[in-house]
This record gives sequence, structure tokens and C-alpha cells, in this order.
Amino acid sequence: MSAALGWPALAQPANDPILCAPTEFSPEAQQRYAAHAQALACCLRGLYGGHPGFDDWLRGFVASLACLEQQRGEDLRTLDRQRALAPDWLARSSGVAYSCYVDRFATDLRALQGRIPYLRELGVGLLHLLPFLRMRDGANDGGFAVSDFAQVQPELGSVADLVALGAALRRDGISLMADIVLNHVADDHPWARAAAGGDAGKQGYFLTFTDPEELAALQSGLDEVFPEQAPGSFTWSQELGRWVWATFYGYQWDLDYRNPLVFGEMALAMVHLANLGVEVLRVDSAPYIWKRKGSDCRNQPEVHMILRAMRLVLDVVAPATALNAEAIVDCVDILGYFGSTPDAPECALAYHSGLMTSTWASLALGNARLLRQVVLATPALPAACSWLNYVRCHDDIVWSVLRSTTEALGQDFAELIGATVRVMHGQVEGGWSRGIASQRHRPLHGTSGMTADLVGLRAGDQASLDRYALLYGVMFALPGIPLIYMGDELGQGNALLPMDDPAADTRWLHRPVLDAVACAQRHVEGTLAQRVFGLLQWLGAARRAVLPSDAGIGLQQGLPEAVLGLRRGGSLVLLNFSPVGQQLVLPSGVWRLHQPWEPQPKRISDDLQLRGYGQAWLQPDEASGCSCTLSLVEPP
Ligand code: GLC
Repeated sequence: MSAALGWPALAQPANDPILCAPTEFSPEAQQRYAAHAQALACCLRGLYGGHPGFDDWLRGFVASLACLEQQRGEDLRTLDRQRALAPDWLARSSGVAYSCYVDRFATDLRALQGRIPYLRELGVGLLHLLPFLRMRDGANDGGFAVSDFAQVQPELGSVADLVALGAALRRDGISLMADIVLNHVADDHPWARAAAGGDAGKQGYFLTFTDPEELAALQSGLDEVFPEQAPGSFTWSQELGRWVWATFYGYQWDLDYRNPLVFGEMALAMVHLANLGVEVLRVDSAPYIWKRKGSDCRNQPEVHMILRAMRLVLDVVAPATALNAEAIVDCVDILGYFGSTPDAPECALAYHSGLMTSTWASLALGNARLLRQVVLATPALPAACSWLNYVRCHDDIVWSVLRSTTEALGQDFAELIGATVRVMHGQVEGGWSRGIASQRHRPLHGTSGMTADLVGLRAGDQASLDRYALLYGVMFALPGIPLIYMGDELGQGNALLPMDDPAADTRWLHRPVLDAVACAQRHVEGTLAQRVFGLLQWLGAARRAVLPSDAGIGLQQGLPEAVLGLRRGGSLVLLNFSPVGQQLVLPSGVWRLHQPWEPQPKRISDDLQLRGYGQAWLQPDEASGCSCTLSLVEPP
């Protein structure tokens, strides 16, 4: 385990006090501690063993964990026991995920309970609430500038409301996912305030600089996340008289994970959230938490040691809780977030950003080459792990994650993504997309917009509906948990934004308030809302009915470039990325054909006419007594 990451080998003294389970743990947790203490101590010594006072710190840390473990509620302890028997609970869940801002979806946490039936209509099994913890006053990056990890933002409710919501969701079979923003805190967080006020201890929580040359050298290796809205990765603090590392906005101060106190505080914050009923922790900006001079300060080996240690902490105190990596990095770097080896797990979930971006690019380019390459390069995951397959989220579409994929195809990134964004940003003759560049002067950086605007959705325009269906079709057809981004279930378009401010954060374009009218129309025959809502329900049903849940994935050979053929078990999903219809010869056998907006499956064999942007879900028709044969390219 450690060799792969180059961790220092640790000789453990036989009577190491850290390895003696403190009696303050409950008997069950003591057993878990006995099972995991060695690995946890190994990770933490690897990271912090050289620190003066490390042993005392570790002893204190474990005592704090024991304290939190004592506070864990009975219902969550029951969940801990159940999930110990089914460690692959998340990967095996048949529900979909749904992501929303509390206020935009339902005003506040209490009112959100009233929306549970709506979520059930969509088959939601995992609900991601975007940040709701106490956030910075004024600009706060949609709540990602956290001022207090233990409090809820007052307008959204209280800690008691959060606990009640988590329990209500659980009763309905929905797990609550929430962010743990590990990389930074708001500049008005008590740690930042104390540091600015001269507290040397708290100054050690942040990375600060005085030497402009050192700063310039560091900056030269870094990618800016918001080059136009928040240029540079450092911010000047007048009070400190120093530069502070701030990867995102200047008011989000990066934490210094070389300091064990930072690790300890954040691990406890994480366990606290788990004790409030958060079942999946979305590890926000995971790749950035460890800095190394001379590198791009992303995906460093220590990031994985920290995530591994966090996992082990949860294994002891709140084992029912899973981690979800928000690692929007090149496809080749994402895999590490599941763990360096199957016996050293980190996160059980990760956003499949390569799948998302390549699906959009394939749609824009009218052929499935990029997407096919991503599917081929996506290996099977360990049993307890799963992808989050998403079309859109609250962030922009970040194209750089496709760099290695374009290279693998022998294509020039700038050329291919340049062609993609010209379509996505509505710059081609007769184009359909109404997206905008998230950084005006760097079009290859990212794209903002709701799915509806990005596919040019218009009532009565079947091609636009088919494009919509195609994107979500990919996410439902592949192994993983399909995620619906709030508003997409209703075909909701962009929010109205005053975009004349060049420093405006374009991501607010795709963060509208749920459209109450569309919501009411979702059952009204013939409305756009009903067609889209029905589509997502149909995809959920097709996924369950047509695809064997435990089947891996293979690519069907012999199809035109425009068509992606995904095989799961004996079933086959064909998706046409071209506006032009395709005449396909089906693999031999008799098939049951399921298609969106077609009330009944049909029996077919031999030929299939797939309209432009059309899709077909095919299941061997057992009643016919013929066997269907597929010829495949298997991913690694
Ligand atoms: C993640 C969030 C994004 C936020 C950033 C900084 O990438 O998804 O919205 O701006 O982290 O916290």
C-alpha cells in the first residue's frame, strides 16, 4: 500500500500508545479501532510523524474521535451495522442522485422535507444539497466559503432542521450528501480572523508569504481556477501584511495540511457532519489540499494519504458514511481517488468528469469518438465504488479534463475543443447551443449554461429533445449513479443574469430557482416540463428493466462513428450523436426495442433506423426463442 505512493515505512514500537484502543469508544467502535488503528497511525505518522509533539497530538485526536463516537445517534449506529454487512451499498443502489441548492429548490431545510415525494417521483436515492453550512457574509462562492462547519446558515434553517431532514430522507430510502470543503475556509472563519489578529498558532493553519519572487515561482506552476473573476492563486491580506494562498476566490483561504492540527480539525468537522446524518461527504476540491513547490499542486501523493486517513477515521467512528471525490482533473488522475489499491480505499464515489465532457463534445462534434475513447479508458471499479455520471452540475463544464483523451486519439486538444466550444457557445451557422464561455477571453477554459440552453431545447423541436435525451441516455446507460441537476428534470433554462459585468461569475447562469410553473406542469400532458420529466422517469425505468444492474460494459463493434453502442450483459444501447439518421444492421436475433416517448416496446430484428440524435435500448427478446449475438470491444 505505502510503497505505491512512496510513503515512509514506519517501524511501530510494540507498545505504541496510539495502538491501544481508548476505553472511551463504545465496544463496537473499539473493535473497529482495533482493526484500523495500525493503518491510521501509519498514514498519520507518514504525514505528520516528524512534527514535535506528534504522539501527544495523536493521543488527543483519538480521544476527540472517541468523544464524537459516543455522540453518534442510535439510528446512525443501526445504519453502521447494516452497512458493515453490505459495504457496497452505494454502488448497488438502484436510485438516481439529485443535486440542488436548498434555497433554490425549497426555500429552506424544513420546507425541503415537503419535497421528498417529488424526489421519490424521480427515483432519487441520493440527495446532494449544495453548501448550507454557515457561510461568509456577502460573496461566498455559493456557500463554498464556510465560516463555521458546525452551524447551518440561519436563512436555511438550524442544525436540528438538518438532523430532521436527514432522518426523514432516510425513512424514504434517500441518503443525504453534503459538502465537506477541505481545501479552504472563508476569510471570516474564526481561524482566519484569529490569524489576521496575530494568533501565531492559527497563522500556522494557512500558507502565507512575503517574498514576491517565491510567490511568482509558485504561481508559474499553477493553473488559475477563475482567471477572470479571481486572477492568481494568492491574495494580499492587509491585516497579516502577507500574501495568503487562495486557490479559488481571494476570500477562500487555503488550509495548510502540513499542520496536523488542520488535519485533526477538519477530520472532526467531517465526523460531526456524519453524526448529523450526512451519509455521503462530498470532498470538495479534493485535488488541491496538498501543495508542493515545483508542481501544479494538484493530486499530490499526500492528498491520497489524507483521504485514506479520513476514510479510516470514518471506518472507526461513522463507518456507514461514504466519501465522494470532487476531483475535476484529467481522466487519468481521477482513478487514484478510489484508493491506491483495493485494500486501501479512499472515496467510494467520484464524478466522472471525463464522461460528462466527452459526451458534450461528442454531441457538439456530431461523432462519438471522444466518448468511445473515454468509455474504453474507464476501467471497472472495486466492488464498493461507483461513478457519479452527470450531464450538468452547479459548476461550468471544464474542458481541460479531456487533455489526455484527445492526446490518446492523436488529436490536438486546442483544435478539437476549439471546434466543440464554437458549437457550444453558439458561434456556428445554424447552431443550436446557447452556452457561454465561463471565462470570456479563454473560451477553451469552460462553458456555462443549463442543459436546456446548451442543447437549444425548444417546445415542439423534437431534435432538441432528442439531444437532451441523448446526454441523459449516456448517463443512465453506463455503470454508475446517474445524477440529475436541479431544473434539468423540467427542462429549465438559464437564470437571468446581468452579464455586463466582466467579473461576473457565469456559473450563476445555471443556478436558477426551481420553476414553480414547470413543476406544476410536470404531469400536464403535452407540456415541455411533462416531456422532460417523463423522459427522466423513463430512463430510470429503462435502466432497471433493460440493463442487468451488475453487468459491466462493452462497446459494440462495427457501428458508424456517430453511433455509440453500449452493451451491458446481453442488452445493447445505441446512441446516435449525429443530426443525420443512421441505418443500422442489428446483431442477429430478435430484440425488444425501447425508446423514449414510445409507450410500448417493439419487437425487431435485422435493421434499425435510428433518427438523428436518436437512441435505442435493446433487450434480447426471450419469448422469441432466438439468441442475440453481440461482437464487442471490451474496455480494460
Ligand atoms: C468546487 C465547487 C465549486 C467551488 C470550488 C471551491 O469545485 O464545486 O463550486 O467554487 O469547489 O470551493
